[in-house]
Amino acid sequence: MTLNDEALISIAANALKNSYAPYSRIHVAASVLGSNGKVYTGVNVENASYGLTICAERSAIVQMVSDGERKPVKIAVVTDLENPIPPCGACRQFIAEFNPDAEIILHSASSGKTVKTRLSELFPNPFKL
Ligand code: THU
Repeated sequence: MTLNDEALISIAANALKNSYAPYSRIHVAASVLGSNGKVYTGVNVENASYGLTICAERSAIVQMVSDGERKPVKIAVVTDLENPIPPCGACRQFIAEFNPDAEIILHSASSGKTVKTRLSELFPNPFKL
């Protein structure tokens, strides 16, 4: 049985409180369902040297790969902004490395709005070697 979208959203929503975003105050959390059925969570982690910031999606993918899983099947991205936010360009490339057609679920914890899409729609022609 595969984890449903609502469950994946709620795992990310629970992690929002761990987001470290003292500079932008934009809190983001991502949860990734791997092909092994496990869920990996990440949050954005900012830094006083702004460019070192890591997004929630890449944090979560790093957790997944560190656990030995290499296929993200579904990714939920949750923010406290009014509208759901899509993964940035760097995160799209980072996800595409492991699954160019991953399902992407975007959700706002403040308004409850949800948008469902796929990485292949957001990022149709990834750079691959
Ligand atoms: N951010 C993410 O975590 N994921 C994205 O895909 C877009 C942006 C974070 C990075 C930074 O901490 C804050 O949102 C504002 O850019």
